[in-house]
Amino acid sequence: MNVAFPDPSSQSARLHERACKVMPGGNTRNQTFVPPHHLYASYGDGCRIWDVDGVERIDFVNNYTVTILGHSPAPVVSAVRDQIGKLTCSVMATEAEIELAETICARSPNFEQIRFMNTGSEAVMQMIKAARAYTNRPKIAKCEGVYHGSYDYAEVSLDPDPQNWGRTGYQSVGFSRGVPDSVLDDVVVLPFNHADATREILERHDGNIAAVLIDLVPSRCAGLPASPAFLKVLDDYRSATDTLVICDEVVSFRMDYGGAQTMLGFKPDLSSLGKIIGGGLPIGAVTGRAEVMDVFDSAKGRAPVPQSGTFTANPLSMVAGAVTMKNFDASAVARLNALGDYGRARLRRALDDAGIVAQVTGEASMMLLNFTDEPLSDYRSVFRETTDRHHQVMNRLFYALLNRGILISNWGLACLSTPMEQDDLDKFAQAVHDSIAEIKLELGL
Ligand SMILES: Cc1ncc(COP(=O)(O)O)c(C=O)c1O
Repeated sequence: MNVAFPDPSSQSARLHERACKVMPGGNTRNQTFVPPHHLYASYGDGCRIWDVDGVERIDFVNNYTVTILGHSPAPVVSAVRDQIGKLTCSVMATEAEIELAETICARSPNFEQIRFMNTGSEAVMQMIKAARAYTNRPKIAKCEGVYHGSYDYAEVSLDPDPQNWGRTGYQSVGFSRGVPDSVLDDVVVLPFNHADATREILERHDGNIAAVLIDLVPSRCAGLPASPAFLKVLDDYRSATDTLVICDEVVSFRMDYGGAQTMLGFKPDLSSLGKIIGGGLPIGAVTGRAEVMDVFDSAKGRAPVPQSGTFTANPLSMVAGAVTMKNFDASAVARLNALGDYGRARLRRALDDAGIVAQVTGEASMMLLNFTDEPLSDYRSVFRETTDRHHQVMNRLFYALLNRGILISNWGLACLSTPMEQDDLDKFAQAVHDSIAEIKLELGL
């Protein structure tokens, strides 16, 4: 089936019209909107996804890095099918929760204990609350431009621009309109991978910071890994001030058997997990040092952080997660990461052959396209005004790829799933090559 996107006579266009009557913007998740209308999914199988008009595409988004085994993997379908007939949720604990907890804790000595939530945002929020409770301090520090989900504190300075990010330093900027100043006052903003500036900013707040929240490989900083010098500053600061270092591994956990922290040899006090650990069902988790995790312990009386939730540790997410983690074992991780190396090399060659200035960044099973030759290191170096060549090319590329059977994110992120083979990466690279040739003509590049 070959229905071009957008097509006002398509099923997707009709569904979008219907949706706009009952939901602002026609949806409840902004990321699904690809102007001028949503693209509606029908079903997925392995690394492929079909829309309601019957168009097949290779899925390089994987619900933003979630479906690590692809769509509807047989072992997960079977485990969920078994469980759904038995129990979907209850006020009683289930053995399935212990099973997933044991499976994840076995993947790294850094994961001494774990607790579950329903989303990555909730996991980051609980991790911050745990750090505040453990240290009895109010503030957190986080990196400019780095995404950690939708908790007000974690969203500070998520998308600042040159008008508000602070001319001489790094200003705390609210994300949603109306964020209280008190939230901004309690979040210190750091420049990712700038070791000296980070040391200096942290030292100004000695004794007040509960935790430094970091993503070790933040996609909004071009998917580049935290440098040893940057991590040393955080480590030294932790030793000197008893501030915790808490890692958001909601996305980066896929990068190694024990997450990006294993890949980079870094030991955080706590980590938030999500996405792949739920096997395609909603999930979040906080894991880390038992001494810190103790703030959640309500078996001894009122916990310093009394964490709960109606659907927390629901057995469907637990069984889907456990079977996914068992299938995404050390050899599956290594194979997927090697495929990532292959894919990045193929994309570089395709872009080079197409004669466009570009950089392919990313680690392990993730890749990012950047249409610039300027050095990329942090949020400010990645930031581009919407009129910039990068956005002009990226925007056109997204649609050109959609119509060549390739789904990536509209800001240039692509990630892999285990059903993929080299042939899928070859198709991706060829589609990028052909799309860029077309775009160059269109833009006169
Ligand atoms: C690094 C990171 N942290 C946290 C989150 C929030 O997870 P969720 O969307 O499950 O709330 C995301 C979501 O994309 C993320 O990329």
